[in-house]
This record gives sequence, structure tokens and C-alpha cells, in this order.
Amino acid sequence: MTSQITLKRPDDWHLHLRDGNMLHAVLPSTATHFARAIIMPNLVPPVVTSADAAGYRDRILSALPEGSTFEPLMTLYLTEQTDPDDVAAAHASGLIKAVKLYPAGATTNSSSGVSHFDSVRPTLERMAEIGLPLCVHGEVTDSDIDIFDREAVFIDRVLDPIRRTTPGLRVVMEHITTSNAVEYARSQDDTLGATITTHHLVINRNHILAGGIKPHYYCLPVAKREEHRLALRDAATSGEARFFLGTDSAPHTDANKLLPCGCAGCFTAPNTMSILAQAFEEDGALDKLEGFTSLNGPAFYGLPVNEETITLTKGDPVTYPSHVETPDGPVTVFDPGFDLNWRVE
Ligand code: DOR
Ligand code: ZN
Repeated sequence: MTSQITLKRPDDWHLHLRDGNMLHAVLPSTATHFARAIIMPNLVPPVVTSADAAGYRDRILSALPEGSTFEPLMTLYLTEQTDPDDVAAAHASGLIKAVKLYPAGATTNSSSGVSHFDSVRPTLERMAEIGLPLCVHGEVTDSDIDIFDREAVFIDRVLDPIRRTTPGLRVVMEHITTSNAVEYARSQDDTLGATITTHHLVINRNHILAGGIKPHYYCLPVAKREEHRLALRDAATSGEARFFLGTDSAPHTDANKLLPCGCAGCFTAPNTMSILAQAFEEDGALDKLEGFTSLNGPAFYGLPVNEETITLTKGDPVTYPSHVETPDGPVTVFDPGFDLNWRVE
């Protein structure tokens, strides 16, 4: 029985760090285990220009714990006013590693996102030319589309047309939640990658709704039926290079999660690696964990694999804080609902 596993240090290819007090409170959780992370730009106001991204990067670096070598990989928030030249300059200087597409209204702070996809065509074409990836929140926002169908409909109505009309554009389908997305990713060439979150590997929609509503399991895209969770587990543990970890760790204070109209997001940064080790072990795929957390993402982004390693050891159940304190109130840490036996050394 394997009781210890050493991996190249993981990266998180989709992370919300927020700003100000929240940034200071949550950044150490990620910086402890991860070498790098793709930083989501959905601040208020959003990170839309290269100047915004440079300022945000500085604030992240100055919030890092003493001695940390964590590297934030910055992104720009795509709007209908985005200037392709500004994007290209930010990429050429090394400041940004991706551009984020939020359909307007799809999720937290997405009101500045895109409604008319034709209006961002010049930026997408420039990104295809320069090899800059587009990270996509893949849900339509039409009120007549059932929320559980919004990812599948997005693939047909938006994603596939973008891929056909912008050949060569590197695209990351982010936080995929359905077997439809897994199948679509598998049908495409290596210009398409897909991230999978930790929480979507362990919860389905029953966990949110059966036996009482669990606001801390509510995120977007919302978790789907069990058959979809199993398709995600199959993809994550397959070893296929197109699938890699993007936690979408998305902290909100408990006060904001527990409102009558609560915020979407699961805060998984503190215990993600323990949960993943548990899940991969359960599926007999511990040998595929390193590919998912540490190798496939860098390969997609054309970045070197981290030289450092982390070691996880299996033993008595691991305890971790139930929440992280912030000056604005506590943020509850995601509870996978089962004991965790893998500890990050
Ligand atoms: O659950 C989510 N939370 N999904 C998103 O797309 C955004 C994120 C957030 O920023 O809170
Ligand atoms: Zn996100």
C-alpha cells in the first residue's frame, strides 16, 4: 500500500485571490502548496488593461508571506472594449499568460463580460496569432436555458463556433462540469485544454440540495448529476494531457455565502491537495495525480515544470481549519464530506 507520494510542485490553473483583506487572508493557503497560479481578473472593478494587471500583480507579490516564491500568472478580463494592441503588449512583456472570457452575467463580477461575441473577434484573432490562451467560463446566460444545461448549450452555441472561426486559438475550457464537456474536449486537437476543479470531482448536485441546502457547495458552474461527476473523475485520472487542475478556489465571507441570494464559490485552496490524493487513490490512479496537478498544465501553457517537489503522506485523518479568518469575517473551507488521510508534508 502506497503511504507516501512525491510530486513535482503543483500549479493551480484557475484561482481567485481577490484583493485587499481577502487577498492577504487567502494567499498563504495557495502559496504553501502551489508554485504558480493563473489569477482570475474578476475584481471590482475588473482587471481589464495591462496597467490594471501590473498593479494587481504588485499587490499579490507584496501580500506574499516572507520568503515565498509563489508566482502569480496574470490574466486580463476580456470586454467588448478590449484593445488587441494592449493585450499583445502585455503578452509580449511576459505580464499576462491568458485572457479570460466571461459571458456577461454568467457569474460573480461578470457584468463587464461579453454579450456580442463578434465584437471581440479582433482580440481573439490577435491572440491566435501570438499564441495567447483564452480561458473560457463556458456557460450561456439565457434565462430560458436551464442552469444545469448552460454548459452543454455554450459548447454548441458559442465555444464550437469560436473554435471554428478562430483556428489556432488556444482555449482552456475552465472548470468543466459535464460529460458533454469531457467528450467535446476529447474530440478536439491539442489547442484545447480543460481544467477541472477539486470540488466538482467530489460533489454532485445532491450534495448541494438533498437534505437541506448547503450554500458552501454552491458554485458556478453548479455541480451536475452523479454521472457527470464520474465523467470528470474519469477525465482527471485518465492521464490525458488535455485535462489539468484549476481549483477555482473562490473565497467569499460566510456572511456573503449565507445571504438569501448567496455568492457562488467553494474555497478549496487549503485542502485541495489532500482531497485530490484521496480521490485519485480511491480510483486507483495515484500515479496519474502528478500529471493532473503538475505536468499537464505547464505543457499546455508552454511553461517549464516546477523543479521543486511536494510530498504527501498517508496516515491518520488530517485536520485542517474549518475556516480562514479575515477582517471582514470568516471564510469556510470546503468540506469534502469524508475523512482526509493524505497530509502535505
Ligand atoms: O463559483 C464560482 N465563483 N464560479 C465562478 O465562475 C466565479 C467564482 C467567484 O469569483 O466567486
Ligand atoms: Zn473561477
